[in-house]
Amino acid sequence: MVNETVKAKMVVDKEFQISEIDPRVYGSFIEHLGRAVYGGIFEPDHPTADDKGFRQDVIDLVKELQVPIVRYPGGNMVSAYNWEDGVGPKEDRPKRLELAWRVTETNQVGTNEFMDWAKAANTDVMMAVNLGTRGIDAARNLLEYCNHPGGTYWSDLRKSHGYTNPHNIKTWCLGNEMDGPWQVGQKTAHEYGRLAYETAKAMRLVDPEIELVSCGSSNSNMPTFPSWEAETLEHTYEVADYISLHQYYGNRSGDTANFLAKSMDMENFIQTVISTCDYIKAKKRSKKNMYLSFDEWNVWFHSNEQDKEIDPWTVAPPQLEDVYTFEDALLVGSMLNTMLRHSDRVKVACMAQLVNVIAPIMTENGGAAWKQTIFYPYFYTSVYGRGVALKPVVSSPRYDSKDFTDVPYLDPSVVYNEEKEELVVFATNRHLEKPLEVDIDVRSFEGYGVVEHIVLENEDAKAVNLPGQENVKPHANGESYLDDGKLVGIFPKFSWNMIRLKKVKA
Ligand code: AHR
Repeated sequence: MVNETVKAKMVVDKEFQISEIDPRVYGSFIEHLGRAVYGGIFEPDHPTADDKGFRQDVIDLVKELQVPIVRYPGGNMVSAYNWEDGVGPKEDRPKRLELAWRVTETNQVGTNEFMDWAKAANTDVMMAVNLGTRGIDAARNLLEYCNHPGGTYWSDLRKSHGYTNPHNIKTWCLGNEMDGPWQVGQKTAHEYGRLAYETAKAMRLVDPEIELVSCGSSNSNMPTFPSWEAETLEHTYEVADYISLHQYYGNRSGDTANFLAKSMDMENFIQTVISTCDYIKAKKRSKKNMYLSFDEWNVWFHSNEQDKEIDPWTVAPPQLEDVYTFEDALLVGSMLNTMLRHSDRVKVACMAQLVNVIAPIMTENGGAAWKQTIFYPYFYTSVYGRGVALKPVVSSPRYDSKDFTDVPYLDPSVVYNEEKEELVVFATNRHLEKPLEVDIDVRSFEGYGVVEHIVLENEDAKAVNLPGQENVKPHANGESYLDDGKLVGIFPKFSWNMIRLKKVKA
């Protein structure tokens, strides 16, 4: 058995600190799209619905994931959204043609309902404003409606809608994917940069405490990447706190080895955005760092064909309902590892999305809520990946795939939680045939012992979970042991792992 393993090494030291992890890297996203809102978080006739119509079974799963922040209301949808349609008496709210996804929006859920849901789900809201069809005025009015205590037109309107206290939303996105031709109201970099700057200025006058996210490229394959970042940041550098990144991956060619390597593309994407931000920082002689908000990331491709069959202008059709495979969960684990290794710059990230739409949580209308394969790496990393990210010094054998060279079989991230006296290693083994035996030098963690080694593995790369049929779920029988200041981790072939150590001896 032993000679069938592939060996790797890692050094982990308390002093090799990347940064305190901002819990908001475990954020997610709910857009008015498909069954995310209607039939997902909101279904008044569902047996578990609370008095506001929110599904308690879904809230329980969101709470299990410990999601710290949820981006809302879009996404592409926000670029033609009139936020005023979604507040006030429900019977007066207009039904609208929703242009991004070509459905009918009933507006039965809007800003205040979403804030209620977020409170019930124990999460904060990251609000996006419409910089597609609208601009400065709608944005500053929405902010006044949400955050101003009272005594003005918009804040008093909120009060008249039953919300006496301001929502105090801290993090705001200045539009969504404004470089994309699919966006209603697409802008050039110059147009967006100017509009985002002026909108930010007005919003900061309304509430100086807010944080703002300037739109980066829609993905790293956009022809204008990274000049979009450079040109827009020329305008927004001093008024924004973050620049956004979005990226989805797929395995259309069925090449698993290449698919698992796609987090290396995410790595390059992050590096390039950091370099571009730092270039503008230098150019402006600025003292300020620009941070990254990776506010859309996931696997998305399974549902592309079936979505073409959906009739336009229906209410809450099943759009973007990817059913995730085992291999998708492994890439999700590696995407999380990649962001944790950049926790000094990536301060916010949103798995896109949270319920039904390219999501870890699925629901049946009127029926069960269930966990997709990708739920698990997200769950463990969110729950146990809190504290300081440590820089693992890795020496791993590598492979070449169609699009990538020198792909390490071992893809780890390491988190030290000083308060809980815990050390957590997350690791994907990208080797499709062989286990990895990893010698991890943990000498600076004297007195620590292995508490658990969770493994997500499956013989079938394409295995999926379905309602009442959980084919892909982790087990706790991972093999790892301590041996004279060394942690030996055995990571089964083609697997995602979490080893959790805790101080057991003084
Ligand atoms: O998350 C689905 C869509 O992907 C979002 O609406 C958009 O921002 C991105 O293109």
